[in-house]
Amino acid sequence: MPQQRHILLVSYPVQGHINPSLQFAKRLLRMGIQVTFATSVFALGRMTKSSGSIPKGLSFASFSDGYDDGFQPKGVDHSEHMSGMEKHGSNALKNVINTSANQGCPVTGLVCTFLLPCPWATTVARQCHIPSALLWIQPATVMDIFYYYFHGYEDDVKNNSNDPTWSIQFPGLPSMKAKDLPSFILPSSDAINSSILSAFKRQLETLDEEEKPKVLVNTFDALEPQALKAIESYNLIAIGPLTPSAFLDGKDPSETSFSGDLFQKSKDYKEWLNSRPAASVVYVSFGSLLRLPKKQMEEIASGLLKSGRPFLWVIRAKEDGEEEKEEDRLSCVEELEEKGMIVPWCSQIEVLTHPSLGCFLTHCGWNSTLESLVCGVPVIAFPHWVDQGTNAKLIEDVWETGVKVVPNEDGTVDGDEINRCIETVMDDEEKGIVLRRNAMKWKELAREVTQEGGSSDKNLKAFVEEAGKGY
Ligand code: UDX
Repeated sequence: MPQQRHILLVSYPVQGHINPSLQFAKRLLRMGIQVTFATSVFALGRMTKSSGSIPKGLSFASFSDGYDDGFQPKGVDHSEHMSGMEKHGSNALKNVINTSANQGCPVTGLVCTFLLPCPWATTVARQCHIPSALLWIQPATVMDIFYYYFHGYEDDVKNNSNDPTWSIQFPGLPSMKAKDLPSFILPSSDAINSSILSAFKRQLETLDEEEKPKVLVNTFDALEPQALKAIESYNLIAIGPLTPSAFLDGKDPSETSFSGDLFQKSKDYKEWLNSRPAASVVYVSFGSLLRLPKKQMEEIASGLLKSGRPFLWVIRAKEDGEEEKEEDRLSCVEELEEKGMIVPWCSQIEVLTHPSLGCFLTHCGWNSTLESLVCGVPVIAFPHWVDQGTNAKLIEDVWETGVKVVPNEDGTVDGDEINRCIETVMDDEEKGIVLRRNAMKWKELAREVTQEGGSSDKNLKAFVEEAGKGY
């Protein structure tokens, strides 16, 4: 009898990694593969409290990252967080591997998300003689940029990216200005940025030790055809979009039955959405990490009110240790609550698939970007850091499904600009029509690829097949 496959999947403990990892796990489960999902003690505690029953075949393991009772406090040096994770995480993974072997269901492969469980998770796999692969949860384009930054382009970026007229052309990618590049490679004295950048460097060095290392990318072939081929020495395999499909095709509710949310979902917005006209609502969310300054929040509020359109705005509640201050309260909160709805968290995929949805004002996290494409929702791109500038560039210039906000000189985007962008995307003028048409085109393509026989479905099956032979 062939050996039961068992993948140990290691996710960095933030929502932007957990969501695609969980969808990846669910696809493996549907293929009859057993999955152990490993993340931090705190994140796992939150995930397993979230709604929905745990799918059959999925088990969990956790490791301490030094913050078992809450999210990593702001301003803490990332390198400390990472070394804590490395020490406890390596021991926990070895423990899972040994216990599974003793129980007769040995781990046959390890997959970890890029960035922080790296490269130590890869090292554990090597020490235990288990094949491993990376799950890259950002676009292939961003992977390429990091690769080329560390393979010959670092000096150009370091020396010239402060010049507003400068642009760079990485192999296989469109020409980019500094604002289009991932924030971590831009010159900065920020200790957090540089410790993350050195983690990337270590991971790429670890990959470079292998011949044609496999990187599973949460994208699809038609979305980034050149970017997926831009690194000759790596094998980038598109297996996305790793988004829940239950709300998309209504076929498999188990896809969302265990959603892994780290935040408590509001229940009130469904009825509110049901009562709004078709394609009328502006949905506003800046993901799971960002907190915008009060001044910027006031400007967004003013733009939403100026637009006169109904809106659903996610403003996350303060976490333990973060103080809720009276001065943080938005000045026009009563008016906002009259015209729209503010929630601390929602099922974003459910909101984006709702018929009342008109457009999405987003920070362009990669999951939000893919979800907008899968749901055919046009976008107002308001990027901040990490990969978001690159994602916004792709949205505006390559896929043409949205417009990017133009900030003032001090970096704030004012209410008039927010309103202008909402009008551009929602109006029945030429630009709005083109954006909505493109969004619908990508929706069709994004859904086809994960169906039986679609490109991502085939790529994942081929990867799993190969993995069985020891990849
Ligand atoms: C982080 C980085 O900031 C981002 O740039 C990177 O691409 C991924 O990791 P995050 O900022 O949280 O992610 O944004 P995003 O990638 O969009 O992920 C947020 C996830 O939370 C999405 O899957 C979204 O559907 C979900 N979400 C958000 C909810 O389910 N409910 C909400 O109310 C808000």
